[in-house]
Amino acid sequence: MSQSGKQNITLVVNGTKRVVGVESRSLLSDVLRRDLGLVGVHAGCEHGVCGACTVRIDGKSARSCITLAVQIDGSSVDTVEGLADGTKLHPVQEAFWRCNGLQCGFCTPGMLMRVTEFLETNPTPTREEAREAIASNLCRCTGYQHIIDSVMEAAARLRGEEWSATAGIPAAELRDPTKETR
Ligand code: FES
Ligand code: FES
Repeated sequence: MSQSGKQNITLVVNGTKRVVGVESRSLLSDVLRRDLGLVGVHAGCEHGVCGACTVRIDGKSARSCITLAVQIDGSSVDTVEGLADGTKLHPVQEAFWRCNGLQCGFCTPGMLMRVTEFLETNPTPTREEAREAIASNLCRCTGYQHIIDSVMEAAARLRGEEWSATAGIPAAELRDPTKETR
């Protein structure tokens, strides 16, 4: 511990080793945003409810706003900034873009990190499983339908398959535009 009250911790952030001085009370979200400039880590509720600050710690999605940085000394941390391969979007990012899985985008980094983890553990999800997987992340904008579409599209792309926006939706849930009055 230095005179400033900070101690150095070592993290592997998006594949790069970083040594950063933190206070014992420093939140991981603050360290990522303020000290490492990773402002794709969004701070929403800042008390563990909304999921906007979700990152992956040693592969598992976690809320960075309720994680103390000193707790994870020596760990790897992945944020939304590490998803794309240069200018090539990650398939999950591309699916959100193609399926309009975002509007204001505030929840999106956390959603993307949660969904990438989910699809690694369940590459062939049902829509219901996709809904459950993102129940930990709140979106104020989309009504979730397009986000679920995005998850299903991403799953298909990661399996190398074609995907249709209506795949997996029970017929009773499909809208018939010819019967809509407005
Ligand atoms: S900002 Fe972390 S859960 Fe809301
Ligand atoms: S796109 Fe606006 S909060 Fe989700």
